[in-house]
Amino acid sequence: MPAQGGGSLPDDRDNGSGYDALVVGAGVIGLACAWRAAERGLRVCLLERERPGAGASSVAAGMLAPVGEVSWGEERLLRANLESAAAWPAFAARLGEASGREVGYRACGALHVALDRDEAEELRRRHELQLSLGLESEWLRPSECRRLEPGLATSVAGGIHAATEAEADPRVIVSALAEAFRRAGGEMVTGDAPAEALVEGGRLRGVRTREGREIGAGTVVLAAGAWSGEAEWLPAQARPPVRPVKGQILVLRGAEPVADRIVASRWVYLVPRADGRLVVGATVEERGFERTITAGGVHELLRESYRLLPDVAELEITDMSVGFRPGSPDNAPLVGAGAMDGLVLATGHYRNGILLAPLTAEAVAATLAGEPPSGAATGLDPARFRRQEALA
Ligand code: GLY
Repeated sequence: MPAQGGGSLPDDRDNGSGYDALVVGAGVIGLACAWRAAERGLRVCLLERERPGAGASSVAAGMLAPVGEVSWGEERLLRANLESAAAWPAFAARLGEASGREVGYRACGALHVALDRDEAEELRRRHELQLSLGLESEWLRPSECRRLEPGLATSVAGGIHAATEAEADPRVIVSALAEAFRRAGGEMVTGDAPAEALVEGGRLRGVRTREGREIGAGTVVLAAGAWSGEAEWLPAQARPPVRPVKGQILVLRGAEPVADRIVASRWVYLVPRADGRLVVGATVEERGFERTITAGGVHELLRESYRLLPDVAELEITDMSVGFRPGSPDNAPLVGAGAMDGLVLATGHYRNGILLAPLTAEAVAATLAGEPPSGAATGLDPARFRRQEALA
């Protein structure tokens, strides 16, 4: 059966080698890689088993927060996060032009607060870590926190202001990327997925799909998010070490905004959207692809957001959902050549998929164009896990 892009693909692309690249997975990462590659003049096909953004991209809060997300021993990830955060304003502007859509990037800043003495001690240590890494992070007294965000609970015991953090609505980004990709000449096949790898002389040359399409390509990019580790159509040794990490998330809405910036505690984060919605996230659960919305998960999110900003009690709950973060062994993504000729990985972005989209897209587009990796992307080479395996 010929490949079809929502209808049909030109016949000459259905000959087993017609595309320069086939990207598997149309989340924010796959779409961004496909768009940037198509803008470089490559012939790109995007294969999505459901619809664009159907996985974690529809659920993600869209925090662009390298400072708040920093943790001990994750310098590789931090470097990538910082580089990608710096690229976001230009990425958003280019995406806006290319799609003709408003993409909703907002440099709103973030306030991380402690609500008791134990939390304050822990937050102080995180602040010291941020300063030691040269990050922009200011310690605020309780009264200073409440001056920035008057809705904060009176129990606030101190906080960190990360003025450079930002947010973007992932659903808006998905739709802008899909449009920009289409305008750049990309082809998309939805409702179908790889069933079998097409291999010639040990090199991956494309896929045969569940629906019987044969899609040939010079390179296949695996960008299937949390499902990347389960890509059974690839030989076992070529499947990346990616696992699903469940997150439950809520969307609230009220007449008045309860905060101007991202507000977070040790237990919860709240991301206010420009249209009045407030995204409350998220649980972190190692439960495979179990997708129940639990009373305990929702209770925890509501209790902790109420402790932080009591006005949330007045808001309407408009959405509750579950997403699966693509977790990797070191919490940093796998971006670059996979363990098989013709395979490139763009996966394992764990908590930072939206933040890391610009960096990942540029790195993958450069790789597809035959350029060597540069900058922080060099640290994301998937070979780091193969080397570890070889030593084990
Ligand atoms: N980036 C926040 C989360 O994964 O919950």
